[in-house]
Amino acid sequence: MGEKLLIAGNWKMHKTPQQTVEFFQEFNPKVEGIDEVEILICPPFIDIPAAVEATQGTNIKIGAQNCFYEKEGAFTGEISPIMLRAAGCQYVILGHSERRHIFGEKDEVINKKVISALEEGLRVILCVGETLQERESGLTFTVVESQLKLGLSGVEDKLDQIDIAYEPVWAIGTGVAAKPEDAQEVHAFIYSVLNKLNPEKASKVRVLYGGSVKPNNAEQLLSQPDIKGVLVGGASLKPETFAEIVKIGQRLSNK
Ligand code: 13P
Repeated sequence: MGEKLLIAGNWKMHKTPQQTVEFFQEFNPKVEGIDEVEILICPPFIDIPAAVEATQGTNIKIGAQNCFYEKEGAFTGEISPIMLRAAGCQYVILGHSERRHIFGEKDEVINKKVISALEEGLRVILCVGETLQERESGLTFTVVESQLKLGLSGVEDKLDQIDIAYEPVWAIGTGVAAKPEDAQEVHAFIYSVLNKLNPEKASKVRVLYGGSVKPNNAEQLLSQPDIKGVLVGGASLKPETFAEIVKIGQRLSNK
C-alpha cells in the first residue's frame, strides 16, 4: 500500500473560534491513536489559530480552504500562503467548486494559487468536478481533464505535494453522493491524466472523492480501488460523524 488514505473535512463557512475549540474537545479523543489514515480539518481562516492550538500533539492536521497567490501587499481581504504556513497550516484546498461558481475563480487564477502555495511548502488539494449540465451533456471527462491540466500547469514535477479532490458539483450538499462505481470511473480517468502529466509521481497523488460523503456511504466509496480518501463537507461538522468516517478509513487501511 502506498500513501495513507486522506480523510479531510471542509468546514466551509461554519463555526466560530469557540465552536472550533468545542469541536476538538470532543473529536480528539475519538480519533486518538489512529495512524493508518491522515486526518485533516480545514476550518475558516479565523478559526485556524484555535484549531492549530487545539490539535497540538495530536494526529490531526489543519489546512485552509483557499488562499491568494501573492505573498503580501495591497490585496484587501486576502490571505497569503506564507500567512497560512506561519499559522500552522499544512494544507490548502484550492479550486473548490464554490470558489469557481460563486466567486468566479477561473483555472488560470487557481493555477497561480497552486504554484504559490506549493512554493511556500503547503500541500495542495486541487478540486475538480463537473456540473449536472456538463454531466448530462457527456462532458464529464472533458471538463475534468481541462481543470486538471490548467490547474496543474507548470507544477507537473511536484505531483507528490498535491492531492486531487473529485467533487461532482451535483453531489455537493445535495445528500446525493455519486454512485461508487461512477466515482471510480472518474477517479481512474483522473489517474490516467495524471499519468500523462508525470508517470513517475502520478501514483503518489491521492484522488479524494467529495460530495455528500456520510458515515453510511463512506465505506463503499473508500472501497473503490482509485478512491484514496474523502473530502467531507456537512458530515465533518459533527465530531461524532466525522470520527465515524475516519474510523471507516482506518478499518479499510488495515485490510
Ligand atoms: P458535502 O459533504 O456537504 O456535500 O460537501 C462536499 C464538499 O464540497 C467538500 O469540499
